[in-house]
Amino acid sequence: MINLKIGLILAIAFTGMSSFAQENLIINTDTREGFSLNGTWHYIVDPYETGFYNYRWKERNEDDPEAYWNRPVVKNISDRKEHGYADPYTIQVPGDWNSQDDIFKYYEGTVWYQREFDAPRIEENESVHLYFGAANYEAHIYLNGKKLGMHKGGFTPFNFKIPKDLLKKEDNFLVVKVDNKRHPEEIPTVNTDWWNYGGITRDVKLLILPEIFIQQYSLQLDPEQDIMAAKKKQKFNLEGHIKLNEPQNSSELIVEIPELKIREKFPIQGDSARFNLSVKKLQLWSPKNPKLYDVIFNFNGEKLRDKIGFRKIEASGKDILLNGEKIFLRGISIHEEIPQDVRRAYSKAGAEQLFGWAKDLNANMVRLAHYPHNEHMTKMADSIGMLVWSEIPVYWTIDFESQEVYEKAEKQLKEMIIRDRNKASVIIWSVGNETPVSEVRTSFMKNLLQTARSMDNSRLVSAALEVGYNRNRNYVNDPLGKYTDIVSVNEYLGWYGDLPHAKENSNWAVAYNKPLFFSETGAGAKGGYHGKKEQRWTEEFQEWYFEETIEMMKNMPDNYTGMSPWVLADFRSPKRNHPEYQEGWNRKGLIDNEGNKKKAFYVLQDYYQKMKEKYN
Ligand code: GCU
Repeated sequence: MINLKIGLILAIAFTGMSSFAQENLIINTDTREGFSLNGTWHYIVDPYETGFYNYRWKERNEDDPEAYWNRPVVKNISDRKEHGYADPYTIQVPGDWNSQDDIFKYYEGTVWYQREFDAPRIEENESVHLYFGAANYEAHIYLNGKKLGMHKGGFTPFNFKIPKDLLKKEDNFLVVKVDNKRHPEEIPTVNTDWWNYGGITRDVKLLILPEIFIQQYSLQLDPEQDIMAAKKKQKFNLEGHIKLNEPQNSSELIVEIPELKIREKFPIQGDSARFNLSVKKLQLWSPKNPKLYDVIFNFNGEKLRDKIGFRKIEASGKDILLNGEKIFLRGISIHEEIPQDVRRAYSKAGAEQLFGWAKDLNANMVRLAHYPHNEHMTKMADSIGMLVWSEIPVYWTIDFESQEVYEKAEKQLKEMIIRDRNKASVIIWSVGNETPVSEVRTSFMKNLLQTARSMDNSRLVSAALEVGYNRNRNYVNDPLGKYTDIVSVNEYLGWYGDLPHAKENSNWAVAYNKPLFFSETGAGAKGGYHGKKEQRWTEEFQEWYFEETIEMMKNMPDNYTGMSPWVLADFRSPKRNHPEYQEGWNRKGLIDNEGNKKKAFYVLQDYYQKMKEKYN
């Protein structure tokens, strides 16, 4: 046995290849050296997993010429090859596959992506990393016939270090196997009210970094400090930490914030350092003043630049305070989708469209449902001053009994936090949506909340909870509310059950002395379909629903601190199949799938204008 082990260790050491070698996440990749691998790739559709398993359904050996990660080399005319990558089988990266060709509309299975690239010049003291913004759902990555590793989770980034002896000067053969099949034991599970868009849905980059580099960091206002006293004295404490990709004997970090005349040195022990900075005259980040500071982390000859806003968000009794002042969240829920193109949003232009609509609505906050959106969204939220609720897809009825499922959820939570914890706009981490109340579920979700807090004590943590409906009261008493900072619920009185006028007599109560946030409320309407307000699916019905909802909010307990109605725009869902009114679209958008605003849009816009003036 010992010999076998030694052999295995030598084998791994020798090839430098331990497959499944996903390294710790590298953050802020936009400002790092490297180049994009976006563009036109080739593909093979592989519903029978032929490229991965042989005909006895055994995983193919790494050097199996029939494996789809290997280049099909034809040496002479009698050679037999039954796979290959060539025109016209091309696909765009980033982008879901569903929207790129009708054959993919409902496809759930494996697609093999392939492209070549020439390697840039790599210095002796440099390292090369392959970075993916996301791939839905399970991705296996191969380079020049060797497996770099795999990642599960459709909405968070991942990266792999490329062993230098594997990288060729020219014509590197990169293959990515992406499988979007749904499974009961995954996160999300098999049942979601959104389209299962598959593919390499976000940016792909080759990063050229020093051999030893800053892998992750955080820099924020010390959440423990009294923000009112700090504002009065104009003296603020920032707390930061950095993490290197590998430990060093002794090294040094220099942090610069030029506009604040900060340049300080800190020793690094091993692979990390924690540090504090005392600054004066800090402009706090807020929706009204989304002030971002240039921050430079100097380490080992590398200048890592970021733009960071500093603010404090806290729950205080029934109020949410931003920089010590009570705020009202004029929110809207958003799916990561461009409805007119029927596709995942993945670019800065997509973020501009979605935020443009939200700004039109007089919103100051977005709920990025039900999964972490692409980083263009959270970067833009930082720069335009839009508050963000960011969520992992622990959605509806997952397998709460399973430790393995918990670990998958926790991994996605950690990846979401690590990527965005330097984004001042993100104020709420949500660990899930509408999960059915049970002891095992509450324990599962409580543990996720504790993980979120232990990683980042500077933000609020929540989840869309369940409401205890009974004859004469809508009681916000979900046991999970004991562990969240704000109690958030989705309500649909007048859409799912009864009609909008039912809201007049609704009687709400909250079991917790905490802020109450309505993470969803909404009704469906087919854009352009008009009639009496009692006529289901008309714009008038949806308008009526929002009028009644706003009236109802006037009588809400004073815990009420805002809402993010469902939903900004119509979105695709395989669960919405009325042949006239839905046709595979969830019609609760305030904007229809052609980008036209429905009548209800203006009802909410007006309400938010009034709330903006009230809370100004
Ligand atoms: C639920 C769920 C949403 C869904 C919505 C609806 O609250 O959170 O994902 O789309 O209701 O029924 O339209």
